[in-house]
Amino acid sequence: MSDATIEVYETEDRTFPPSAEFAAGALANDQSLYDEANNDFEAFWARQARELLTWYKDFDQVLDWQLPFAKWFIGGELNISYNCLDRHVDAGKGDKIAYHWEGEPGDTRTFTYSQLLDEVAKFANVLKGMGLKKGDRIAIYMPMIPELPIAMLACTRIGVAHSVIFGGFSPDAIIDRCDDAEAKLIITADAGYRRGAPSALKVNVDDALASRASTVENVIVVNRCDTEVTMAEGRDHWWHELMANASNQCPPEPLDAEQLLYILYTSGTTAKPKGIMHTTGGYLTQVAFTHKYIFDLKPDTDVYWCAADIGWVTGHSYIVYGPLTNGCTSVMYEGTPDTPREQDRNGDDRSAWGKDRLWDIIERYGVTQLYTAPTAIRTFMKWGTQEVERHDLSTLRVLGTVGEPINPEAWMWYHEHIGGGSRPIVDTWWQTETGGHMITPMPGVTTTKPGSACQTIPGVTAELVDDDGNLVTEGGGYLTISKPWPSMLRGIWGDPERFQETYWSRFPGRYFAGDGARLDSDGYLWLLGRVDDVMNVSGHRISTAEIESGLVDHPSVAEAAVVGANDDTTGQAIVGYVILRGGNEASAELSEEIRQHVATKLGPIARPKAVFIVPDLPKTRSGKIMRRLLRDVAEGRDLGDTTTLADAGVVDEIRTRAADSDEE
Ligand code: PRX
Repeated sequence: MSDATIEVYETEDRTFPPSAEFAAGALANDQSLYDEANNDFEAFWARQARELLTWYKDFDQVLDWQLPFAKWFIGGELNISYNCLDRHVDAGKGDKIAYHWEGEPGDTRTFTYSQLLDEVAKFANVLKGMGLKKGDRIAIYMPMIPELPIAMLACTRIGVAHSVIFGGFSPDAIIDRCDDAEAKLIITADAGYRRGAPSALKVNVDDALASRASTVENVIVVNRCDTEVTMAEGRDHWWHELMANASNQCPPEPLDAEQLLYILYTSGTTAKPKGIMHTTGGYLTQVAFTHKYIFDLKPDTDVYWCAADIGWVTGHSYIVYGPLTNGCTSVMYEGTPDTPREQDRNGDDRSAWGKDRLWDIIERYGVTQLYTAPTAIRTFMKWGTQEVERHDLSTLRVLGTVGEPINPEAWMWYHEHIGGGSRPIVDTWWQTETGGHMITPMPGVTTTKPGSACQTIPGVTAELVDDDGNLVTEGGGYLTISKPWPSMLRGIWGDPERFQETYWSRFPGRYFAGDGARLDSDGYLWLLGRVDDVMNVSGHRISTAEIESGLVDHPSVAEAAVVGANDDTTGQAIVGYVILRGGNEASAELSEEIRQHVATKLGPIARPKAVFIVPDLPKTRSGKIMRRLLRDVAEGRDLGDTTTLADAGVVDEIRTRAADSDEE
């Protein structure tokens, strides 16, 4: 592990105080939540749990902390589907829209809270009919269609835990996850629409079940695209046939606050993914709290949109559980941001065809909050502003970003071009493991700095430490969380030792997040990426995030990724991959100019050994750049498993270009 002396790309000291609109709003420079939480964080979270959720039985103890194992709201009983659905219907909001769903081809479906409740109750009865009961685990491998949240909520109604497997994963991933969790059932679809065509899913389930995943007894299949599928007699069942006969009466089961809600697998440093466990009461409390305050929610009028995929934790917490608990209206979209609606294809000769899909959705539904990833923002930057300008985005009130450090340039672009220069940006730092937001500005409260995630939310304590575990009060360090929080992971499924070892052993008594960060003199946190992505070049520690900021600072560069490749002389060598902004031609001269630009901007030690100009970067479907793979390309090693690539073709392209450049 590298040490914590991380050099940082210094940005201008730009600050954005809460705008007038927010200064007059509910939070209105309100520090009282922080004061309350600082005074007694357990009491603070207990109040949130009681105010934001409805409990069948109140808890009698807030926290039981046997490091590293936490239990929250002990003795309390609740049901998540009840909190997400029934209580809103009971309160007279049955006709309120829960989801405006839009398919990639442009087909739409609308679900009110009572319609969603009906579907969830019916599907819970279907699950019961398959013999599933409290404590069982099932897998969900679906496209972004309404049946996905319906399936998740149906599980919560009867205490079955779900393990959502991202639709872009391979049969191997299905096998690993089903075997590990001993899943009894898989819910899938024939296919889902991606980039204008059906992308098959059921066939991957068939492949997985042909070899292993032997605990799976039944498969339920949604017919989304009307593609040909093989149905195994006795094992495979059509969703619509099961639902046609299901009753919509299924009382929600009161569940213990610590009942397992879901397992979500995430990559660690080894090849075996970690099954991150989340439970019921604490998870829902923090997710509901953050969704309400971080997005400054006005549940009666807002149309909130988290443009993530439910296959990742962002979708679990901020498409399904947070928004529904808070009773708001959300948009849910099936496809990719550059795929036009079918009806917009006809006779349309626009040159930037389809590149306005997101802006079009925002305008048509009157979206008030947009929550997306910096990679997406940088892609939009690359596409230019002419498509943005064709749309009225004035309904937007809050912009969010998540998943990776946002460079100040992308922050400013988002702020100016999407936010009209006035909307607050919430740069939310959190992880699959943390369950909900941990570090982020709050609209109306926090003065933001472009590129900084600012401060912890009330009730969460983050601290930076150096190699020896000493507190760092200014400068670079390892990001740790020093007190338990309600939505924290409860462990790694089936592997308590790995849980202890991965998160709690490096700095005793602290959760080590795996990220490096810097604390500036105003107490603002600047996330620098994973510390395992920190390079050591000739004994100097340099963060990949720093070099990337230097690369994207060049006017021709739209997006960049940097890896540390093994080098016999310098230990590691910096290798950069860049995508050019539209209108620039790739050339050896430009590559050299970009290298020099980094050296000028950050110092000679930061000059990359090579800068490859590439047409695209290999990314997971959640938008994260696959640095390991880029490192492998740089070092000429085997690529290994590429199943998490959004587009595996990109790799060949990068590889070819890298090889070509080597030969030059
Ligand atoms: O490195 C941090 C980065 O994403 C990691 C967590 O990834 P995952 O579990 O897939 O969850 C992503 C969505 C919550 C973190 O360890 N990360 C996440 N959000 C930010 C971030 N890095 C910088 N700024 C963020 N806002």
